[in-house]
Amino acid sequence: MKNKLEKLRADFLQELGQVKNSEYLRELELKYLSRKGELSLIMGELKDLSVDLRREVGELANKIKVELQTRFEEVSRQLAEGSIKKELIDVTLPGETLADGHLSPITLVQNELEDLFNSLGFMILDGPELESDYYNFTALNMPPTHPARDMQDTFYLDHKNKEGQYDLVMRTQTSPVQIRSMQKYGAPLKAIIPGRCFRCEATDARHEHTFYQVEGIMIDKNINFSHLKSLLEIVGQRLFGAGTKLRMRPKFFPFVEPGNNGEYTCFLCQGKGCRVCKYTGWLEIVGAGLIHPDVLRAGGIDPEVYSGLAFGFGLNRLAMLKYNISDVRLFNSGDLKFLEQF
Ligand code: DAH
Repeated sequence: MKNKLEKLRADFLQELGQVKNSEYLRELELKYLSRKGELSLIMGELKDLSVDLRREVGELANKIKVELQTRFEEVSRQLAEGSIKKELIDVTLPGETLADGHLSPITLVQNELEDLFNSLGFMILDGPELESDYYNFTALNMPPTHPARDMQDTFYLDHKNKEGQYDLVMRTQTSPVQIRSMQKYGAPLKAIIPGRCFRCEATDARHEHTFYQVEGIMIDKNINFSHLKSLLEIVGQRLFGAGTKLRMRPKFFPFVEPGNNGEYTCFLCQGKGCRVCKYTGWLEIVGAGLIHPDVLRAGGIDPEVYSGLAFGFGLNRLAMLKYNISDVRLFNSGDLKFLEQF
């Protein structure tokens, strides 16, 4: 108990030394010296001691009580006289500024596309990043031995189906969600699907193992090439300005027929030719085409009744063009010097 008293004394004096205002002083009084304070509590325990001890400890307790009260009154007087420097709050000091968070350039471009397609009546859908081999390839007209699979080398999971084949893959494209959404919603259907994709790339300034795409599909009776062309024209003008022109050149994608590369007039040189468009005047931006009948069938839609268009934008590429970003690897770098610019 003596130890307890000594500790209480030391704690009180130490805290008293830090008093800068009367609120704090009042708190100390309540905590240590009031009727329910710590000193009273200890003194209440005296009655449990033997007579001799009680006298000895009681004397010490009283001594400490007097000392603490005297010190308390001293400090209280000094505070009132102003000889203790009161805590000053300068309300004119500027506050602490918190760093603003901000959206990544990929998200900015994605939001822009989502706004546009929303206004055209498209749903915005999502799909799994870990995809089955079937949805990612087979259902899109790329059966296991198809050479087109080579264009999209990727990461398989160490998991086999009953036939002993690897059946789970980090999706290489957002196209598998075409099939998933056809199966879920049927026709007619208008949707875009933004999302993250993965490929086993030898990375460089233009290739990255993790990147983003926005897929789009529109399925109805009598959808034809002119719908595709006008839709892509609208997107180009929204992204790169009113004068932007579109040209479509044949390109093979297994899930569309005919398949195309959509190219826009270079927004930097207005089609005259510059470094960004490699002096062609055109920027390759989007893969697109009319959905292959087999793909519609895989999605449970009858190609004799319905037809559809599909397209896929590379979001990283769009953001790179729009914000003049020279290296695709910056997106995943976590480098604040890069990210803070947006
Ligand atoms: N999925 C293709 C790719 O990653 C892009 C693409 C091309 C999507 C044509 C489409 C399309 O929907 O019709 O290379």
